[in-house]
Amino acid sequence: MASLGVNIDHVATLRQARYRADPFSVLAEPDPLEAARLAEDAGAAVITAHLREDKRHIQPEDILRIRRVIRRLNLEMAFLPEMIAFACELRPDEVCLVPERREEVTTEGGLNLLGGEERFGPGIARLRSAGILVTAFIDPVEGQVRAAQAGGADCVELHTGGYANAIRPEAQEHELSKQAAAAELARSLGLEVHAGHGLTYRNVRRYVARIPHVRTLNIGHSIVSRALWVGWERAIREMVALAAGE
Ligand code: PXP
Repeated sequence: MASLGVNIDHVATLRQARYRADPFSVLAEPDPLEAARLAEDAGAAVITAHLREDKRHIQPEDILRIRRVIRRLNLEMAFLPEMIAFACELRPDEVCLVPERREEVTTEGGLNLLGGEERFGPGIARLRSAGILVTAFIDPVEGQVRAAQAGGADCVELHTGGYANAIRPEAQEHELSKQAAAAELARSLGLEVHAGHGLTYRNVRRYVARIPHVRTLNIGHSIVSRALWVGWERAIREMVALAAGE
């Protein structure tokens, strides 16, 4: 049984499509803060937002506004000195470290932590000493799980894109086995386990049934898409139930 983190980036994507020049004008809509508030009311345990270096959707001002009123904020960000400084000042409940490439449409792979203890350790320690739960978004492979622990992370978020993109049942099964092994190893090393990327109303039930150690699932695109047909609140309530294994 997992709790749900709702990723609100694509609410900001829609706003930016029309109000890029003045996203905080009184005319601008939809407001990611409103989405975050309603998501919490509908049962989301965490609000997740990715402040990208290119600011293509969420803006720093969104994060500041959300931080003030939301119960639990997970800030996704690249491992960059300016982002670490921003997070230490803001003190979100969680930071999820992700790789970032300007040309990508969305996050493509997990962070490569191999051999990077010296590179990642001090930044992770700084975030942790600000009282932030630090998660590394990684591919479900043993070396990355071990490197996350060696680098001092509290938690790993397993990249579920491989599972989400697998079409044939054998391929899905293969991906689920990798997820299960990585989750089991992470837990045995004392790490909290989250998961996300590409999870949908169709594939999440099987994932949750198979990977019981996952505490939080971070899901965005599928929820925003379904909300177009059934509304934001119902889309979230449905996903909260699926994440809980109902
Ligand atoms: N987790 C991480 C680390 C991500 O980068 C993203 C995408 O921004 C998600 C979860 C959510 O992915 P999706 O929008 O495919 O549900």
